[in-house]
Amino acid sequence: MAILKKEYHINKNDFLRAGEASIKIKNVLKSLDVDPSIIRRVAICGYEGEMNVVMHGGNGKLSLEINSIHIILDISDDGQGIEDIELAMKEGYSTATDEYREMGFGAGMGLPNMKKNADEFAIDSAAGKGTRVRMIFPLIHR
Ligand SMILES: Nc1ncnc2c1ncn2[C@@H]1O[C@H](COP(=O)(O)OP(=O)(O)O)[C@@H](O)[C@H]1O
Ligand SMILES: [Mg+2]
Repeated sequence: MAILKKEYHINKNDFLRAGEASIKIKNVLKSLDVDPSIIRRVAICGYEGEMNVVMHGGNGKLSLEINSIHIILDISDDGQGIEDIELAMKEGYSTATDEYREMGFGAGMGLPNMKKNADEFAIDSAAGKGTRVRMIFPLIHR
């Protein structure tokens, strides 16, 4: 059973507010005295996931759920989806435009880093059907 659930909207191409949801979840976890190394892992995954929605996805949301033993991050969008998930998961693979690359994005490390930093990682996506990434972390207090 969830003891806390927060949801934040993410808007496609909104670079002014991009990253806000990740900052908010970081503050929630800090206020709950979660272990800093866990906060760091959740924050990396939240930020990468949020940026992917802004850059590649559509409108979407980030949800943070905490129960007695886990932190669950669920990031979804209604965008174009991913045709080849295996390819998208490869380190260095990116479809970022030149414009995004000039802004410093497009290293193709977001999804691999999310997988690395989460205890459990699941991605659901199909062309035209949007994308959903779900990640689970242990709830450890400092
Ligand atoms: N939410 C999403 N919607 C559509 N495509 C996505 C989404 N997230 C990731 N992708 C695809 O997967 C690729 C790899 O993502 P990622 O590893 O984060 O690298 P980067 O964001 O640097 O391109 C992206 O370039 C894009 O093609
Ligand atoms: Mg990315």
